Amino acid sequence: MTAFRTVSHHGSLTVVIVGAGAMGREWMRTAHENPDVELVGVADLSEDAARSSLAEVGLAGVATGTDGVDLALALGADALIDVTIPAAHHAVTMKALNAGLPVLGEKPAAATVAEALSLAAAAEATGELFVVSQSRRYNAGLFSLRHLVGSIGRVGLVDVGFYRDPRFGGFREEMAHPLLLDMAIHPFDGARFLLGVEPVSVTCDEFNPVWSPFAGDAAAAVDFRMSDGSRFLYNASWASPGLQTSWNGEWRVSGEAGTVLWNGDDEPVSSVTSGSSVAPVPPGDSIAGSLADFVLALRTGTAPFGEVHENIMSLVMVEAAVIASERGAQVEIDEILTAAHREAIAAEKDAGAAAVLRSWTSVRDALSAGGPAPLTST
Ligand SMILES: NC(=O)c1ccc[n+]([C@@H]2O[C@H](COP(=O)([O-])OP(=O)(O)OC[C@H]3O[C@@H](n4cnc5c(N)ncnc54)[C@H](O)[C@@H]3O)[C@@H](O)[C@H]2O)c1
Repeated sequence: MTAFRTVSHHGSLTVVIVGAGAMGREWMRTAHENPDVELVGVADLSEDAARSSLAEVGLAGVATGTDGVDLALALGADALIDVTIPAAHHAVTMKALNAGLPVLGEKPAAATVAEALSLAAAAEATGELFVVSQSRRYNAGLFSLRHLVGSIGRVGLVDVGFYRDPRFGGFREEMAHPLLLDMAIHPFDGARFLLGVEPVSVTCDEFNPVWSPFAGDAAAAVDFRMSDGSRFLYNASWASPGLQTSWNGEWRVSGEAGTVLWNGDDEPVSSVTSGSSVAPVPPGDSIAGSLADFVLALRTGTAPFGEVHENIMSLVMVEAAVIASERGAQVEIDEILTAAHREAIAAEKDAGAAAVLRSWTSVRDALSAGGPAPLTST
């Protein structure tokens, strides 16, 4: 377990947001609404975009710039929130961690598993906290589902169906694996959260309905074998007009003593009466929950959901599913981890991160052991 630096002053946690696009504006609203947080700066490659996004959200008196880390250092901010595009996550977070700034970053951790491993190593080397905001974990229904699953005995099968017909326009309609790369990380992460176990192997068949507006495959049938012998099935389409599921999908969890169903919107239902115990609730909905957890972590040293070591396996599941689909064959998760580790070592330019990466004898062990320990302050 790695300790991370906490923030000990008693004022609001001052943050800079980098990336002033659609999701950046959501983060501006969310940071503004959190009483423990003060948004002091917004950066974007286009400073005009930073200014216009702040104006659109209705926030005044917030500094702007073109480099999030430089702006945060100039303002003496406590932390950085990275809402840039995935291709920029590695460079932005690596610079921030080395500048002594903890980071709350949008999913995915980075564009590739190798880059994500580099960031986990940098977090260890610098002692700074890096959390990936996996927003759909912060859902009261998912928390209830997890609670109810506790009373159906051993789980044999988690089956998620996801059928939507969105029209995004833009990059998603041109990319190679739009459903797997942009959407599937949420239910994959949800299944890990629900089961509390990690994946071992995957088969995946991607395809594109003939009427699909997407250039890449917008549908997939994915089958993960998990470490406790259970299976996680994900059948999904982004080209499915008509009777659609919720954005969280429809969940069926089948255990040895019963079944729990969740439609992704309402309270889940169980075939087993779970007594009077009350399900825990997240500290906020969606990104408000991950921001609240990030603040708590920096104040107390308590390990949050999505700490980069804990989060990476959700990205591994995405990459493994894509490779399984391309090969038309089952892929072992350990193969993906080993290849990404090798790639990360070969590409690493940061001396501290390189030393940490080289010290890992097993990536799986490093990810499960490397998360933060409750500790320390400066
Ligand atoms: N959790 C969710 O449900 C959810 C939903 C949508 C998007 N996201 C994630 O949020 C992130 C941003 O998505 P978006 O839809 O807002 O994208 P976007 O393209 O609308 O905005 C990204 C912004 O980042 C800026 N940018 C890129 N590189 C930068 C850099 N190095 N420094 C400063 N600014 C930089 C761009 O100029 C752009 O303004 C992505 O990682 C995406 O996966 C998450």
